[in-house]
Amino acid sequence: MNESEELKTFCKCLLGILTFVICFCMSFQNHKPKCYITDLFVPALNTYPNSSTTTTRANTFIFFDLKLENVMPFNGLRYDNVNLTFSYNYGGYRSTLFLPIARHTVPGFYQGVRKTAHKRDVTTTRGVPWGDAFAAVSNGSTAVFRVDLATNVKSKQYFWYAKKQRLAVRGIVEVGSAGLKENKAAIRLR
Ligand SMILES: *[C@@H]1O[C@H](CO)[C@@H](O)[C@H](O)[C@H]1NC(C)=O
Ligand SMILES: *[C@@H]1O[C@H](CO)[C@@H](O)[C@H](O)[C@H]1NC(C)=O
Ligand SMILES: *[C@@H]1O[C@H](CO)[C@@H](O)[C@H](O)[C@H]1NC(C)=O
Repeated sequence: MNESEELKTFCKCLLGILTFVICFCMSFQNHKPKCYITDLFVPALNTYPNSSTTTTRANTFIFFDLKLENVMPFNGLRYDNVNLTFSYNYGGYRSTLFLPIARHTVPGFYQGVRKTAHKRDVTTTRGVPWGDAFAAVSNGSTAVFRVDLATNVKSKQYFWYAKKQRLAVRGIVEVGSAGLKENKAAIRLR
């Protein structure tokens, strides 16, 4: 071996050690997942009576798709029960009055490395001011809902779990005249 080859070998070795150290350190991450509402459908606010999704206004359900994303490259993630609270923004644009209208629990689960989970479900509502909401979507504005998510998560590190972390995030979802979430883009809960 000449000197330059020795240097190359040394560099490769150093790089290997560095990579190992970085990966090892990264495997102790305890990052919270990213949470999104990708879809929300309120049949009672569908103002198109002929569409295939037609339902009577007696249908007071909310259909939703919650997306949970584990962003850690080396760690699984354990969720406690995920509590969702849906509220209705009463009193017009930018009012600060939010009436709780539904609570829903997604059972706790384990999520693998870099996995994304979709929790699609339907929840019953109580006390939505339907007249107000229907008027809003009928006149071209939107019915405004808030989704609050609360749970505890802990990341899996080799054979044990890291400390539990509380996750409490929320987001505003606007619903239009088809009873559907206004924007195609997923709403990030922060
Ligand atoms: C809705 O349905 C009625 C009865 O079937 C029909 O006469 C009408 O043209 C439909 N309207 C639209 C917008 O499709
Ligand atoms: C539409 O209806 C909502 C709810 O009744 C009301 O707050 C809003 O001001 C109305 N918007 C327009 C443009 O009429
Ligand atoms: C979720 O709701 C249950 C029942 O109300 C409660 O006991 C639990 O503490 C809540 N979890 C979080 C993380 O807020």
